[in-house]
Amino acid sequence: VTRRSRYAFDPTPLELATLSTLLHWALGVQRTASGYGSAEHPLGMAPSAGGLPSLRVHLVVGRAGELEPGIYEYLASGHTLSVVALGIPPLQQALVQPQFADLAPTSIILSGQLTVVLAKYPPRHYRTIHVDAGVAIQNLYLVSTALNLASCAVAGYYDTALAELLELTPDIIPLMVFPVGHHPR
Ligand SMILES: Cc1cc2nc3c(=O)[nH]c(=O)nc-3n(C[C@H](O)[C@H](O)[C@H](O)COP(=O)(O)O)c2cc1C
Repeated sequence: VTRRSRYAFDPTPLELATLSTLLHWALGVQRTASGYGSAEHPLGMAPSAGGLPSLRVHLVVGRAGELEPGIYEYLASGHTLSVVALGIPPLQQALVQPQFADLAPTSIILSGQLTVVLAKYPPRHYRTIHVDAGVAIQNLYLVSTALNLASCAVAGYYDTALAELLELTPDIIPLMVFPVGHHPR
């Protein structure tokens, strides 16, 4: 009932523990099952078609806190962050509403791995990846609300600029930006 899209954020960076909790409960591994040639294939808190790892998750950290400003990738299988690039990221250049990059200390960005889905399913399932992203965004909205964080789904971005910022390969397409931070204090 209290879930809303928020457009005001406190400038303080998110604590690493808060970010970890958000990522785990929204996008982390829920369980493992036998499949895809593995006895322990990871399945997510957010369901995906065929239980495939169709989404990539990046963090754009704009303000120094426990994490240095930069771009990180969230690797759900180990619940770890991997550094993509350090330094203040120019996220505003990739957004139709650049103010989100200045207001929110962190943005989570979901991208779709088309090759993972199309290796198993016929071409019409290019659409399924967008549904997977929608499910994941709702998890992010609900878990961030439960953690008393401010957040907003943002579809207004420039494809090429965002893909370049995240250093995505051509088979990976950005699908959604999710600025998140504390409510204004
Ligand atoms: C898929 C999706 C994309 C959205 N993209 C944007 C956006 O680019 N810019 C923006 O200001 N709000 C965006 N929103 C927020 C919506 O405007 C908002 O969810 C809607 O007005 C309903 O408000 P509520 O989320 O507070 O219930 C998006 C929401 C969704 C679900």
